[in-house]
Amino acid sequence: MKHYIVTGGAGFIGSNLVRQLLAEADPGRVEVLDNCFTGNRANLSEVADRIGYHDLDIRDYDGVARVVEGADVVFHLAAVPSVPRSIEEPLSCHDININGTFSVLRACVAGGVKRVVYAASSSAYGNQTASPKVETMTPEPLSPYAAQKLMGEYYVSVFKECWNLEAVGLRFFNVYGPRQDPSSPYSGVISVFMKCLLAGSPPTMHGDGEQTRDFTFVEDLAPLIIKASRAEGVGGKIFNAGNGASYSLNTLWSLLTKIEGVELPALYGPPRAGDVRDSLADTTLAVKMLGHAPQFSFEEGLRRTLAWYRAQ
Ligand code: UD1
Repeated sequence: MKHYIVTGGAGFIGSNLVRQLLAEADPGRVEVLDNCFTGNRANLSEVADRIGYHDLDIRDYDGVARVVEGADVVFHLAAVPSVPRSIEEPLSCHDININGTFSVLRACVAGGVKRVVYAASSSAYGNQTASPKVETMTPEPLSPYAAQKLMGEYYVSVFKECWNLEAVGLRFFNVYGPRQDPSSPYSGVISVFMKCLLAGSPPTMHGDGEQTRDFTFVEDLAPLIIKASRAEGVGGKIFNAGNGASYSLNTLWSLLTKIEGVELPALYGPPRAGDVRDSLADTTLAVKMLGHAPQFSFEEGLRRTLAWYRAQ
């Protein structure tokens, strides 16, 4: 039975991945490495007795090396995942996102880990105007966060090249779903808008609300992450991990108000620094090489997510 480590496993995406891994792994074969800097152990509460948990910072090389030694797969999701935060707190975000990733990759080489899946970001495309975004495009990062995640991708390729580490990167697009924390100033837009919807208060669009995102339901992303850990011939490669459809924030808000059956016009404020205008994934490569096959329509993903927030 395979042995899995999930860095950032107490986070929103990581805890969803842990649940999917547990569907087929033996108890104790799934271990989480997290210091809850942005994650939350409550995300793992019903599965806590079936997993190992290591309260560690990814920059702690010796600690990480002890945990990952001999693992079959390390899913490296731990990061400070925010564009605005990387502008407000550039030093700590740089240190965690770049040095932390370097430490995890080094530890995986030292520990003979068979496969690493790295959470890269579609923010790497930045100002590329062509749409959809294809992996072969030249990256044009607009924020420290985008540059940091891109650096991790380069290390993924370099670690394959120089130390034969079977590492693969997935560029996550805007991910949403149950357990995304809506309460921080850096929270993802869908979680924020759902919180507003349930409170009956209007959301604020940063700019005209016509920016678009390839919103990806976390329950479609987690199976893709697992597929990336099993596909052959993908070491050193980077894949788009989006859905292949994009929606503006204005459309998102009108869908949400329609689902809820309310009329609540949004407010509009200034645009946000470092913001990408349009983001849509070309998923051809992920479909072909990883077997990517999203199951949920956008409306279904929104309904499921809204039901989860309502139950909290
Ligand atoms: C998101 C992810 C990032 C990931 C990237 C990949 C989050 C928090 N960030 O960045 O980790 O790498 O996708 O594409 O999930 N907005 C509003 N009002 C609000 C909140 C946000 O108008 O109250 C706008 C933002 O200005 C932005 C859009 O909504 O234009 C999406 O923002 P956000 O969900 O924070 O994430 P991304 O910047 O897309």
